[in-house]
Amino acid sequence: MKHQVRDLHEYFQIRELAEQQPEKFWTAIAETFEWTKKWDNILDYDLKKADVKWFEGGELNITENCIDRHIEKRGDQVAIIFEPNDPSEKEQRITYNELAEQVNRMANVLCQEGVEKGDRVCVYLPMIPELAYTVLACARIGAIHSVVFAGFSASALASRINDASCKMVVTADGGFRGDKTIDLKGIVNKALEDTSSVERTLVVRRTGADVHMENGRDEWLSEKLEKANSFFAPEKMDSEDPLFILYTSGSTGKPKGMVHTTAGYMVYAAYSFQNVFQYEADDVYWCTADIGWITGHTYIVYGPLLNGATTVMFEGVPSYPDFDRFWQIVEKYEINQFYTAPTAIRSLAKQGAEHVEKHDLSSLKVLGTVGEPINEEAWNWYHHHVGQERCPIVDTWWQTETGGIMIAPIPFTTPTKATYASFPLPGVQPALLDEEGDEIGDNVVSGNLCIKFPWPGMARTIWNNHQRYIDTYFARYPGYYFTGDAALRDPAGYYRITGRVDDVIIVSGHNLGTAPIENVINEHQNVAESAIVGYSHEVKGNALYGYITLKNELSEEEQDHLRNEINGLIADHVGPIAKLSKMQFTSSLPKTRSGKIMRRILRKIAAGELDQLGDTSTLLNPECVEEIIENRV
Ligand code: WTA
Repeated sequence: MKHQVRDLHEYFQIRELAEQQPEKFWTAIAETFEWTKKWDNILDYDLKKADVKWFEGGELNITENCIDRHIEKRGDQVAIIFEPNDPSEKEQRITYNELAEQVNRMANVLCQEGVEKGDRVCVYLPMIPELAYTVLACARIGAIHSVVFAGFSASALASRINDASCKMVVTADGGFRGDKTIDLKGIVNKALEDTSSVERTLVVRRTGADVHMENGRDEWLSEKLEKANSFFAPEKMDSEDPLFILYTSGSTGKPKGMVHTTAGYMVYAAYSFQNVFQYEADDVYWCTADIGWITGHTYIVYGPLLNGATTVMFEGVPSYPDFDRFWQIVEKYEINQFYTAPTAIRSLAKQGAEHVEKHDLSSLKVLGTVGEPINEEAWNWYHHHVGQERCPIVDTWWQTETGGIMIAPIPFTTPTKATYASFPLPGVQPALLDEEGDEIGDNVVSGNLCIKFPWPGMARTIWNNHQRYIDTYFARYPGYYFTGDAALRDPAGYYRITGRVDDVIIVSGHNLGTAPIENVINEHQNVAESAIVGYSHEVKGNALYGYITLKNELSEEEQDHLRNEINGLIADHVGPIAKLSKMQFTSSLPKTRSGKIMRRILRKIAAGELDQLGDTSTLLNPECVEEIIENRV
């Protein structure tokens, strides 16, 4: 692919070109793909209206670019290595030829079952090859996939199905995760009680569990796949036709269905993958994320396949059967690029380096991190024990909304610096803005991170709610995309992302909005009101601290019982990842005179920064602060 940056001088040159002549820059990259019809117009945009169109007039199918065009040259090369949860189960090595066959069969099945171009298909699957097949089959027929992480609860699943009016759900009888099996079909059955749009559910056999199949609605997938034709002519998609919806937490209200469109996402996924991982022919690349998150979409499926790479898909968890599972897999497949989350690094570091030292990691060339800021200690551990001080670490900053990596070092080119995501990729124009909306120049170094020019991978809207898209990302700083993150910039121009500036908290790399969790807690009959804040946690990065006021006084025993009930409710309605690590019952919450909860104070108390509470005398109820401090957990 063109514009693969090879040294720092070239990096600055290309960055300059991309800034001066963005259309020329992206044209050269877009020309490396297969189009059934070339675009008329590279870029049309108005950031104030959040209206962005790339490659308008073009026609293509992303699966032709992920699969068909590789067949001639590397049909027998492995596209996906599937490593099962249990190391005693044999892996699957799926070649590009086999991937083509599976995706085409699946496309035929979806089509026979009534899915048409533009329909939404909800995918609720464990990390098994069928997940990749389904996603690609949707893209092949022009249906919009909406993958929901298989750790989400029935009601979280139902709300996502309803929001996008999905016509179909593709799921499994269950999933394996470490020593547990998860009853995915049971969760889907429950979710479908509260939805009306789903006409058909296709079910993959994975665990062999005995599950309830609803007559007339649910079908086993394997029988249909065997009978299906192994070719499906790819649907011609317009550049700006939606490719997928992926939900991400908002600071208020229900999750936002971020919509990514076909051509821009494709160009950006491929471009960023190539540059950030410096993948070379015959390398084996592994991203440990789940396809339920954007990282899995872009850097397990689309980015690697667009580049004709070999990508590993791992069903299990880092701690099963033991804490060396990741390193055992690295050794087994001689992984060259390894991409994971700081949370995973911290939790494995805690178990000691002997788990790493048991394995030969000499194949590794590039290490990556994503999803949250990486602290210096974890960075050093990763660098020393995993990378053996030989492998550059690419700390990649990006978001569900950005579609692909925005700020990251180019390995072997950008000198790395612990905790810094470093430079933007060429074509990305970040800016730091102050509260007044002025861009902060070189000599002041911290502000709200914005992007001042469109890039092809950016989300185009929120499903069914363009106004919310404008309000969330484009209204605060007109003419800019506002990320919701704050960042520092050092004199060399390196960016360091310092964290969210809204009420989204990143726990173990997962974005959680506080409002939806508070809503769940407030529904409990004993609860009057609640406020959740994040506090820093050694392994998870952040954990949740809930301050809860009760309607009536409860005994100690009743309070313990209530704590369990609250976390149970959260697990059922949001998902187990959103459970509170600490809960404090209090008689009231600190409020401003207009009745707004002062979360800043609650955050400081949770962090133990009791000398930094600031002036509390202007509160409506300053006396409650003492009580909260006294009973802090
Ligand atoms: C955070 C994940 C610091 C950030 C791809 C962002 C990071 C949010 C980094 C998006 C990083 C992601 N350093 N913070 N390298 N990468 N974040 O949508 O707060 O799940 O806004 O996308 O994660 O999370 P999302």
